[in-house]
Amino acid sequence: MSVTEIVPGLEGVPIAASAISRVDGQNSLLEYRGLNIETLAEHSTFEETNFLLLYGKLPTRRELDDFIRDGARHRRLKYRVIDLLKCLPEHGHPMEALQAAVPAIGMFYPERYHPGTEQKRLSCLRLIEKLPVVVASFHRLRTGDDNLIPRPDLNIAGNFLYMLRGEEPDPVRTRILDVCLILHAEHTMNASTFAGRVVASTLAHPYCVVSSALGALSGPLHGGANEQVLTMLERIGSPANARAEIRRMVEAKEKIMGFGHRVYKTIDPRAKILKKYAEQLCRRSGSRFYDIAVAVEEAASEVLSDRGICPNVDFYSGLVYAELGIPRDCFTSVFAMARVTGWLAHWIEQLEDNRIFRPTQKYVGRSGESYVPIERRG
Ligand code: ACO
Repeated sequence: MSVTEIVPGLEGVPIAASAISRVDGQNSLLEYRGLNIETLAEHSTFEETNFLLLYGKLPTRRELDDFIRDGARHRRLKYRVIDLLKCLPEHGHPMEALQAAVPAIGMFYPERYHPGTEQKRLSCLRLIEKLPVVVASFHRLRTGDDNLIPRPDLNIAGNFLYMLRGEEPDPVRTRILDVCLILHAEHTMNASTFAGRVVASTLAHPYCVVSSALGALSGPLHGGANEQVLTMLERIGSPANARAEIRRMVEAKEKIMGFGHRVYKTIDPRAKILKKYAEQLCRRSGSRFYDIAVAVEEAASEVLSDRGICPNVDFYSGLVYAELGIPRDCFTSVFAMARVTGWLAHWIEQLEDNRIFRPTQKYVGRSGESYVPIERRG
């Protein structure tokens, strides 16, 4: 087949058949393996959702118990990985630390190059369990705190909060973070998943797959938007300033962070759930950010919703993370702690029927140029 037209951003171009998740952007619907995200957010846990995404079905009680127990055994980092984190500059971005750590972790597991069923299972457990530990450890080390040993008796969300803050995690906050992880675990063929699938198609090992996806996620047009939403809300400062500032931004053609999506042309279903938690947490703490966010949402919707530009997952997630005590520059890393499961599910799916990605280009440069010796170049 020969396609001659360039499709900027590959908009609307299917690059793989996938059975992992489905988005209906007109009807605000997201499903993982056929299960509605709202149902999963209400009834499931991050661990159960991970099993669902990786194995394509909900686990039995026994399967889930084994999956949780086996996973918690892979939480600890090798001391040399902790030393690596200690050597990184403390002013570096946590996403950079995470991207540096992931292939380094992989170097300890020679079987990473031979992805049989058991090796795939182990790589998935290690990556899912260790990413939150890297994020929490890097944060503690850069702020001069002692690194903590992960606790196998807590779930992934609870252990992350424990390691980050050094105190027993509160069950309400743990459950809210658990739901955030469910909501961010997978989202069809977005930029980071595509990046991961391209690398997977070369038969690179899963630590490289995840590392490339992390790089793609870090950008402000993708996972980095959640940090910027909070910075924007802080700048706006009060609900009364929202309308004027949003109109100024739209007139100046500045993007409103946390708004717009390639697929959703109505509100992102994840944003609706996160909005509820943002309100609950901000009312509890007395934070003014929820009211500012609602005023910004209203003002931006007045000018953008006719064009199908609506709040996306990042609009309220930063607010929730801030209220959970997560430092602002760790927000995208928390997104990555969840999305690693989706990337791994796509890695496995890519290998089931692999062909290396090798698109083409439309050459628009010069041809047949003569080589001018350096002393004769003007
Ligand atoms: N604020 C203002 N205008 C916007 C916004 C926005 N947030 N998003 C899109 N638009 C406008 C663009 O300026 C453009 O207008 P034009 O046609 O007059 O030039 C038009 O809508 C189309 O925008 P594109 O950027 O081409 O749309 P695309 O589908 O490529 O981009 C994207 C989607 C990147 C998410 C975009 O909406 C955006 O940059 N949003 C802000 C960043 C953000 O929130 N990213 C997180 C996305 S969710 C996630 O990745 C987890």
